[in-house]
Amino acid sequence: MPLFKTINFNSTTQILIWKITEPFSELNQQIVLNESNQVRLKGMKSEMHQRAFLSVRKLLQKAGYEDLDVYYDTFGKPHLYDGKHISITHSHEFSAIIISDETVGIDIELQRVKIMKIAHKFCNSEFQFLAEDSANENKQQYIRKLTVIWGAKEAIFKIRNEKGISFKEHITVYDFNLNVKQNKSQLHFENKIQDFAVHFEEIDDFTLVYAFEN
Ligand SMILES: CC(C)(COP(=O)(O)OP(=O)(O)OC[C@H]1O[C@@H](n2cnc3c(N)ncnc32)[C@H](O)[C@@H]1OP(=O)(O)O)[C@@H](O)C(=O)NCCC(=O)NCCS
Repeated sequence: MPLFKTINFNSTTQILIWKITEPFSELNQQIVLNESNQVRLKGMKSEMHQRAFLSVRKLLQKAGYEDLDVYYDTFGKPHLYDGKHISITHSHEFSAIIISDETVGIDIELQRVKIMKIAHKFCNSEFQFLAEDSANENKQQYIRKLTVIWGAKEAIFKIRNEKGISFKEHITVYDFNLNVKQNKSQLHFENKIQDFAVHFEEIDDFTLVYAFEN
């Protein structure tokens, strides 16, 4: 499938989403990769990962860039040579990028029942506002909210990108309504407090979350 969706969030921020339906060979024919990314692509164990990696390059093309415009730092965080901010995510059949003048992070996650089992690993004060859903056994809503929280923490981690950040101890997501599709989050790490505006969208069974540093 070509481009699945474009979100023109504001005049300097664009989010692009790809639904990966093309076979590897089709995507591979259409993309020119730099040398290190050619090596990386060859080394990927799963074809799904390769297709996701290539689909991100299709998204870059849609945004007016190509693979050669991107470089990765030693942590694996992507950057654009022109100084704009970029963040990348992929999960199963979806991939997405956000490009902005602002500091941004993005994450896409499949909504899975399994997230309930690991909630204690990444939630802390969030359990106060989650209690109602878990107590009411409103399971679907609980999973959807947990997936937003997880995505927000991943997106914020991708912004700050520092060793030692714990999702549970250092990142707080404040109460939100699934219909409002945004929340406020905070990172407390090494004597610094950073505020983030988080936005999310649900696409099929996936949750796309993107965060801006305030
Ligand atoms: C690096 C990390 C953020 C990637 O997230 P993910 O959900 O596994 O995968 P996604 O598809 O959403 O994101 C992958 C993309 O993130 C980007 N990325 C990788 N490392 C990054 C970093 N350190 N900072 C910012 N972005 C990074 C890359 O663009 C990568 O895709 P690409 O290499 O194909 O271009 C994640 O693996 C991680 O380390 N998270 C923190 C670990 C943690 O504390 N977990 C909590 C356990 S309770």
